[in-house]
Amino acid sequence: MNLTPIALHPQQVLYEQVAERLQALIHDRTLQPGDRLPSVRKLREQLSISTSTVLEAYRLLEDRGLILARPQSGYYVKATALSLPQEPTVTQPPRHACAIDISLAFQVMNAMRDRQLIQLGAAIPALDLMPLAKLNRLTGKVLRDNPTLSHGYGSPLGCDVLQAELAKRMLDAGCSLSPEQLVITNGTNEAIYFALQALTQPGDTIAIESPTYFAMLEAMKALQLKALALPTHPRTGLSLEHLETALQQKQVQACLVVSNFSNPLGSCMDDVKKKSLVALLNYYDIPLIEDDVYGELYFGGTRPKAIKAFDTEQRVLYCSSVSKILSPGLRVGWCAGGRYHRRVSQMKSIVNQCTATPNQLTVAAFLAHGGCDRHLRHLRQAYHQQMNRMIQAVCDYFPPETCVTRPQGGHVLWLEMPAGFDALALYHAALSHNISIAPGIIFSPSGRYYQNCFRLNTALPWSPALDQAMATLGQLAKNQLP
Ligand SMILES: Cc1ncc(COP(=O)(O)O)c(C=O)c1O
Repeated sequence: MNLTPIALHPQQVLYEQVAERLQALIHDRTLQPGDRLPSVRKLREQLSISTSTVLEAYRLLEDRGLILARPQSGYYVKATALSLPQEPTVTQPPRHACAIDISLAFQVMNAMRDRQLIQLGAAIPALDLMPLAKLNRLTGKVLRDNPTLSHGYGSPLGCDVLQAELAKRMLDAGCSLSPEQLVITNGTNEAIYFALQALTQPGDTIAIESPTYFAMLEAMKALQLKALALPTHPRTGLSLEHLETALQQKQVQACLVVSNFSNPLGSCMDDVKKKSLVALLNYYDIPLIEDDVYGELYFGGTRPKAIKAFDTEQRVLYCSSVSKILSPGLRVGWCAGGRYHRRVSQMKSIVNQCTATPNQLTVAAFLAHGGCDRHLRHLRQAYHQQMNRMIQAVCDYFPPETCVTRPQGGHVLWLEMPAGFDALALYHAALSHNISIAPGIIFSPSGRYYQNCFRLNTALPWSPALDQAMATLGQLAKNQLP
């Protein structure tokens, strides 16, 4: 087999490009299960790359469960490489707006916070992978260096040093914003809540992806809003066709989407779609709340752009935080509210005046000189490997009818079982084995859809206990099959 030299992509690591290339050959069956891959020497010569690059690429493919090494013999395509579970297809939620029923979500959330459980239910980051020692040292320094400032009321807009650091980071998402255009919030959820408050009146309807992160449903319920859940593709996100119909019929007053590696589907809109979405919003004069909390957790070579990057008329309210990349406990997030900036900052001032100053200064210091990019490179690689390991475990332990998503970033998987499967019963059965999962119904506004689906957190580092939990869950799922 001859491979032509790789056209280098300046922003993707070389060994990943080599691995992607070989993976594509496996997926299109040029390389079949059982086939031997080119020797390290041959590939090195064919592609004019170093031995370590070839070895790294092969290691990545091993981590992805696609190849195996045979001592003294070389690398081979695994027999199971092509038998990964199917992916779910586009969702088909009911076509009407509805009031929100989230009573079960609260119950499930409480179970998801129980530290005795193997937490596959909550979309919590792996704290072992976070730079906690450095953050703790920085907090101490911040308090020593700012003994008075740390304890006074701060500006509702936030600390200017943090605004400046975040504005710099947002350049990577394609957004060119000045620091004063950001309001610092207590996490993404608060940013979204203020954005919703700034945009809506009770009774308004918000267009959302379906399934939807349940905290958004909780926020909408608290503000007496209705939800119009739109069909969503697990890879490419919200259906713009359905959105356009809703906009034509004047059914919605605002939109709310997770643009990159959504929760729970893991979908990510490409740039063309993001641009088209903005064009639609401009045409129908509708604002959009963008949640980009997973945008930095991409597995490919480049950070996906934010929808805000294409926002020509300042109608996108961009919300994010450091919860998924540094620390959820610091509660540091932000909102770039565009033309609604003043209203968002008023909300912040009314509700809690400001986000805790020491937390803001700690994050600012980490972003400025804490090695954030190096930390993120490591985190993305770990999450990518863990995601692949979890997909492989679904393949090994779950019934063959299981469909599972293939997110290209983030740390959640969505599993769809055959119709008639009761994921809530699975949730209860799993709890009795000290395992939590998130049943699909909590991601639907009416609390009635996605009964045969559930979400798994993939952020936990792989371990024998996790392997056992996945085996148990797979067996319980087999028992639940109708
Ligand atoms: C899509 C999405 N948005 C927001 C959040 C919450 O973020 P924060 O901790 O910054 O409020 C989560 C957490 O799971 C999430 O998945």
